[in-house]
Amino acid sequence: MSKKKLKKNLRSQRWFAEQTLRGSGHKSRIFQLGLTKEDLENKPIIGIINTWSEVNHCHSHLKERASDVKTGILQQGGVPIEMPAISLAEVFQKPSTMMYRNLLALETEELLRSYPIDGCVLMGGCDKTTPGLLMGAISMNLPTIFVPAGAMLRGHWRGQTLGSGSDIWKYWDELRGGNISEGDWQEMLEGIARSPGTCMTMGTASTMTSIAEVMGFSLTNASSIPAPDSAHRRMATYSGRRIVEMVCEDLKPSDIITEKSVYNAIKALMALGGSTNALIHVIALARRSTIDLKLDDFEKIGRQTPFLVNLRPAGKYLMEDFYYAGGLGALLEGMRNLLYLNELTCTGKSLGQNIKGLKIHNPEVIKTPQNPIEPNGGLIVLRGNLAPDGAVIKANAADPKFHEHVGPAIVFDSYDEMAKKIDDPSLDISENTILILRNAGPIGGPGMPEWGMLPIPKKLVKKGIRDMVRISDARMSGTSYGTCVLHVAPEAWIGGPLSLVKTGDTIELSVKNRSLNLKVSATEFDARRKSLKNKPERFSRGYGRLFVQHVLQANEGCDFDFLEPSGPTPEPEIH
Ligand code: FES
Repeated sequence: MSKKKLKKNLRSQRWFAEQTLRGSGHKSRIFQLGLTKEDLENKPIIGIINTWSEVNHCHSHLKERASDVKTGILQQGGVPIEMPAISLAEVFQKPSTMMYRNLLALETEELLRSYPIDGCVLMGGCDKTTPGLLMGAISMNLPTIFVPAGAMLRGHWRGQTLGSGSDIWKYWDELRGGNISEGDWQEMLEGIARSPGTCMTMGTASTMTSIAEVMGFSLTNASSIPAPDSAHRRMATYSGRRIVEMVCEDLKPSDIITEKSVYNAIKALMALGGSTNALIHVIALARRSTIDLKLDDFEKIGRQTPFLVNLRPAGKYLMEDFYYAGGLGALLEGMRNLLYLNELTCTGKSLGQNIKGLKIHNPEVIKTPQNPIEPNGGLIVLRGNLAPDGAVIKANAADPKFHEHVGPAIVFDSYDEMAKKIDDPSLDISENTILILRNAGPIGGPGMPEWGMLPIPKKLVKKGIRDMVRISDARMSGTSYGTCVLHVAPEAWIGGPLSLVKTGDTIELSVKNRSLNLKVSATEFDARRKSLKNKPERFSRGYGRLFVQHVLQANEGCDFDFLEPSGPTPEPEIH
C-alpha cells in the first residue's frame, strides 16, 4: 500500500467490500482479470482512460506509454485498469473532431461513474481529446491526472525545419502558385511528420496540453516533453505514481480548477500565442466547473498579458525547441508576477512552488515580460453588428496591414460552393476583398470544422498574395495563420447576422477597436432579417441529431446544454 494514508474509504470498495451475492460476483470477475484478493484490500483502483487507437496518428505511442503509467501505479501500491475511450484523430475524423469532443467527454464521465474507479489517468493530446477528457473528468470529480501525448519531433526537408500544419498550408500555396513541383511536395509531405506525437507547432494540441498543465492537471513541464523522448516515459511513470497519492489525499478536480487557475490558463494562452480553439475549450472547461467565464475575460486578460513564446505559426520555432529552452515551467517562472501562484495543482503543491527556480535556457525561444515579442496577447475578441455574441481573430498570425480594413465581401454559403468557385479565373477579386464562409458553425458545419483559413484564390497566389481578410463562423486549425476572423456568433445557420451579408456589401474590420461591422443601413439590415428562411434539420437520427439539438454556440463553449452542471454528481446504485 502507498506510503500515504487514505483520507476516506475507497469508492471502489462499494463494489467489492460487501459480503453479498453481488459483491462476491464482482470479486470473482476481478480474479478473472488475474488480480488477487490482496489487490482488493483497499488499494486504489486507477482507471487509465486511454485514447490510443490505430486510427489516431498522434497517439500511436500511447499504448506503450500506458505501460509506463501502470508501472508507476503499481510502484505506489495502486491497481491499474486501462479503459479505452473514443479517439479523436484530428486529421481523419469528419466532419470535425469538434463534433465528437462532447461524446468523449460524456464517455469519460460515464466510464468513471459506472465502474469501480477511485482515480483516473487521462491520456490524450490530439486537439479535442484534451478538453474532452478533462470535461468528463471534471464533471465526475474523481482524483485526476492528465498525461499529455507530447509533440512529435521537428519536421525536416532539405535543410529546413517544418512545422505541422503551418508548412502544409505554406507549401500548398507554393505548389498552387507553381513555385514547387509535385515531386517536391511529395518529399515535403514525407518529412513533416517524423515521429509519434501531436503537431509540434503551437497549435491546438500543444495549446490545450499546456493549458491543462497550467490549470494544475499535469506534472510540471509534462506538456512540453516531445513524445519520443525518454523523459516522456518517465513523466508517464511519475504520473502513475502520483495519481495513487492523489487518491489517498482525496485531491479532486474541484480542488484544482478555480476561477484563478482558469485565469492563469488564459494568461498562459496569451503568452504562448496559442490556438483560437482554446477560447471555446477553456470556456467549456470553466463552465463544467460552474465558473462563468466569458469571451470578454479573454479580451481583458489578453490586454494585460504579453506574447512571449516564439513558436510557429505566430513565430519561428517548434515544440522541441520550446522544451530545450526550458518548456512551459520556465515560461511560467519568467512571468510569475502575472500569475496567481497559490493555486493548488495535481502535484499537491501550488503552481508557484512547482515552477520556482526553473530557468529559460534560450531567450530567443522564450521571452520574459521585460522583453516581450508583443506587449499584448494576440487573441482578440471582436464585436459589432456582424458578431453580436463575439468573434475571434489571432492578430499576431495576421498581416498587420489588414488589422484595420474596409472591403467588399464575396460570400460562400458552403464549403463546397467555396471550393468550386474560389479558383475561378472570372472571380472578381483583389487582395482587398473580404472572403466570407458561412453555415460552418456548431450546427451549420456541423461541429465547426476548421475551414476558417479559407484558401487564397489561385490567381492572387500567382501574384504573390499570401494573406487577405477572411470571415467565418467556422474554427481554424491552431497551426493556421492569416487574417481570419473566426467563431462568429451566433452562427449563420440559426440566423446570425452573417446570414444577412450579400456579395458586394462593405465590411469593416478594426482590430484596434475590436469591431466587425456590416456597413448597411439599419432599415436594410432589418429587411434582410425579415426575409430569412429557417434552415432544415441537419440530422433525422443518431448522434448527429443529439448534437445539433443540444450544442451551445461558440461563445458558450459548444458543450451540450444537458452536460452543464446542475447539482451534485450522482453515483450509481450498486445492486
Ligand atoms: Fe493530432 Fe495535430 S493532428 S495534434
